[in-house]
Amino acid sequence: MAIREIIRMGHPTLRKVARPLALAELSSGYVRRLLDDMVDTLHQAGGIGLAAPQVNESVRLAIVEIPGGASRYGEIPAMPLTVFVNPEIEMLDGETAGYWEGCLSVPGLRGYVERPQRVKVRALDSRGSHIELELNGFLATVFQHEFDHLDGRLYTDRLKDSSLLVFEDMLGTHQAMLED
Ligand code: NI
Repeated sequence: MAIREIIRMGHPTLRKVARPLALAELSSGYVRRLLDDMVDTLHQAGGIGLAAPQVNESVRLAIVEIPGGASRYGEIPAMPLTVFVNPEIEMLDGETAGYWEGCLSVPGLRGYVERPQRVKVRALDSRGSHIELELNGFLATVFQHEFDHLDGRLYTDRLKDSSLLVFEDMLGTHQAMLED
C-alpha cells in the first residue's frame, strides 16, 4: 500500500473520459493495488471521496467514505468505505440544491454548485457484484461530484456563477457579506 500523488487541476488526465474496467481486471494486481493505494491516499488527504483519475489512472473507479455527523456541510449521514466500478447515475427528479463543494484536485478553493438531489446509482463493487443505491441530498451531490471526475469534469465547470468560487479561508467572510 502506498500514498499516491493527487494530481491538480491543469493536469490533462483530469480532463479525460476514463475507460471502463473489464470484469476480469477487478482481480488483477493493477486494480487491487490501485484500490488499496486510493484508500490510503484518501485517508491521508482527509477527503470523503476519490476518483482514480485524481491519482492519474484514467479508469472508471471511485471510492467514497463519509464519517457522518457534524461537518462543514452541516449534519451529514455516514457512509462506510464503498467502491464504485463503472458507475452510472440516473437523476430521479428535477429538484436541486446547492453546496459549497471542494475537491482534493483543486486545493484551497470552494465553489457553489447546484445539483439534482435525488439520484440512483448503479455500479459494480470491487468483486464485480452489482450494487444499486438511491441517494438523497448531500450524498447525491458527493456522488455526482466523484463520477464527474470519470468524465473529465470538475466542479468548477458547474459553478452556478463564476463569482461563487472562493478561497476556503474566505468562505466565512464571503457568506457574512452576503448576509449583511
Ligand atoms: Ni473532486
